[in-house]
Amino acid sequence: MIRAAIAGVGHYLPERVVENDWFASFLDTSDEWIRSRSGIERRHFAADGQVTSDLALEAARGALTDAGMAPDDLDAVVVATSTPDLTFPATATILQQKLGMTRGFAYDVQAVCAGFVYALSNAHALIVSGQASTVLVVGAETFSRILNWEDRATAVLFGDGAGAVVLRAVEGQGTPADVGILAVDLHSDGRHRDILQVSGGVSSTGTAGHLTMAGKEVFRHAVEKLARCTEDVIAKAGVTMDAIDRVVPHQANVRIIAKTAAKLGLPMEKVVVTVQDHGNTSAASIPLAMSVAAKRGDLKPGDLIVTEAIGGGLAWGAVVLRWGHGR
Ligand code: ACO
Repeated sequence: MIRAAIAGVGHYLPERVVENDWFASFLDTSDEWIRSRSGIERRHFAADGQVTSDLALEAARGALTDAGMAPDDLDAVVVATSTPDLTFPATATILQQKLGMTRGFAYDVQAVCAGFVYALSNAHALIVSGQASTVLVVGAETFSRILNWEDRATAVLFGDGAGAVVLRAVEGQGTPADVGILAVDLHSDGRHRDILQVSGGVSSTGTAGHLTMAGKEVFRHAVEKLARCTEDVIAKAGVTMDAIDRVVPHQANVRIIAKTAAKLGLPMEKVVVTVQDHGNTSAASIPLAMSVAAKRGDLKPGDLIVTEAIGGGLAWGAVVLRWGHGR
């Protein structure tokens, strides 16, 4: 049985670091409010002229190096982003050109903060169906470009960044002891599309627009839906909650992360938390957290990992995988 295993992981954060105090210079807010409500201490913002594919490129290079692979070893590139360089072509094809990759195919996936989970599921499907043997999956965002700097309830929560994984086809036995992706669970419900959205678009306003959010409602949906789909994906994988070694949640807000873990009976020692250092980077947040955790030795070959995310749409999902070693 073919499994899609993680062969390499990388991330990139822009050089400019913005601490919470910076916002207090032009908004009625404070470091204390931002920390206590979200767990965020700082975020990175892209420099003028630095676009999403530039961030994606650095993360992709890191993941390829980690996998010991060159760009032309890849069959496909999937980029999850809601902040593409251009309306078209896909940021993935721009990344393909910047990597110097001359073969394969590349496209974008747009599922906002759930984008990486959707893209991972998509890449997994390419591999198990035999359409590709090696896929680069990137989450990359420049949310600073769609923030309303006068809205203290949203401007303080987001940051720019990128993370990437290389997936490779490996032989498995078809049991939960296999390395690679063991189960996927995806959902969306467009009835809730207006509680988290951007106020512009190509065919409506002709502008990029600004992010708007009904924070309390998003919070409520997030905890309930993430807990449910995490339980479901663990059952689909044929494992138990106790067997999970690490949770890599979407890094939106430490209170959502902690409440969801508590609902699932998962101790926080098992949960990877990096949101304090980069805020909510939407589709980039999970591969970014995976890369940070792998580099500090918190994700080890053989570890059973569950990753989950929710975002605009609403769109949400979860994946169970066994870490390493698609090398
Ligand atoms: N600084 C100071 N005060 C603020 C700020 C700020 N940055 N932002 C909002 N406030 C004020 C509000 O105006 C409100 O004031 P009022 O009572 O005078 O009207 C007060 O703080 C309380 O606002 P609430 O919305 O009740 O604050 P809450 O405790 O719910 O926290 C938050 C707000 C952090 C946005 C919370 O609702 C939340 O975490 N929601 C989930 C949002 C999220 O993480 N979204 C990310 C995108 S979706 C995803 O990735 C999962």
